[in-house]
Amino acid sequence: MSTFANTLILWQIQHGRHDLPWQGTNDPYAIWVAEIMLQQTQVMTVIPYYQRFMEAFPDIEYLAKAPVDDALALWSGLGYYSRGRNLHKAACLMAEHYQSRFPRHAAEIQQLPGIGRSTAAAIAAFAYGERCAILDGNVKRVFARYFGIIGYPGEKKTEALLWQKAEELLPQAGVKQQMAAYTQALMDLGATVCTRHQPKCLSCPLQPNCVAFAENRVASLPTPRPRKPLPSKETTFLIMIDQDKILLEKRPSPGIWGGLWCLPERQIDNNNQTYCTQSMEIDALPLTDLPPLDHTFTHFKLRIHTQLLQVINRSHKKTDNEIWLTIDNALQLALPAPVRKILLKTDFQQPLLAH
Ligand code: ADE
Ligand code: SF4
Repeated sequence: MSTFANTLILWQIQHGRHDLPWQGTNDPYAIWVAEIMLQQTQVMTVIPYYQRFMEAFPDIEYLAKAPVDDALALWSGLGYYSRGRNLHKAACLMAEHYQSRFPRHAAEIQQLPGIGRSTAAAIAAFAYGERCAILDGNVKRVFARYFGIIGYPGEKKTEALLWQKAEELLPQAGVKQQMAAYTQALMDLGATVCTRHQPKCLSCPLQPNCVAFAENRVASLPTPRPRKPLPSKETTFLIMIDQDKILLEKRPSPGIWGGLWCLPERQIDNNNQTYCTQSMEIDALPLTDLPPLDHTFTHFKLRIHTQLLQVINRSHKKTDNEIWLTIDNALQLALPAPVRKILLKTDFQQPLLAH
């Protein structure tokens, strides 16, 4: 037997879980129901649901004969009802086409609705001692760390490599009892020792050969899901210069920068030289564009263009949400960070003198 499998099996005997209600049976139906319930739900939550479900539907025939709503009634509280629906659907299929007998091999088990490769393998290993590899989320984490595998495990390439490792590590063929112990050992290690946060490496049986432990990379493995790039938007701020003053507008609240004083914001439009604000018409001459400034919000990136304009003529303002004031005074107000940055960077003397 390989050292890896051997080590895990010995650890499982001493430290693993032995008295869960779905252990100590090799009834594939009983194991199937448990594995499906355990897919997205904690062991302690599952136990009472499992016991009620097995009492009501002790085998494939009972489940297949029951209306789906009866099965779902006993599922209610577990969530993810498609699991319960698929369970009932698969029971009906087996009742109709296989004389209510559960398939004998992982490859056939996997054809049933709601059963993926790892779950099929777990059922076959527990029920029949079939030599096939599991790879659920916990096991992916263990292997990614043990082998120091970089890459998000949800990604095809990384997942394929993890499956390959999972198969290479299986106990050697021959001793059927070992497959159940080995499979349970991997699950238990992932759930109780090699946990997502603060794994207990000092009491881990795999530690002597664990790459992540040796290289101090436990915390960075498995590689997290890559972050989606943020959508980007563009906008244009206007610095309208009238004598030594510029125009600021108070942003509506709620909203981005709500209640803060901001430069007037316009979509890019170089032609129009009359700018209408809430209460004014402003004739202005474009002077120059400042280099764009990138600002990152939690949900998007904003590229801010800034246009400098010389005011030629303007009507009077009639609202408290607009204000003409000097840069120095503007910098005293509550401004969004990029507005402050732009005002601090801008050399206003230049265009003023140029006019
Ligand atoms: N999670 C998934 N399958 C399990 C099992 N058989 N025992 C404990 N936890 C599990
Ligand atoms: Fe996981 Fe730590 Fe064990 Fe490595 S040594 S398998 S990181 S618990």
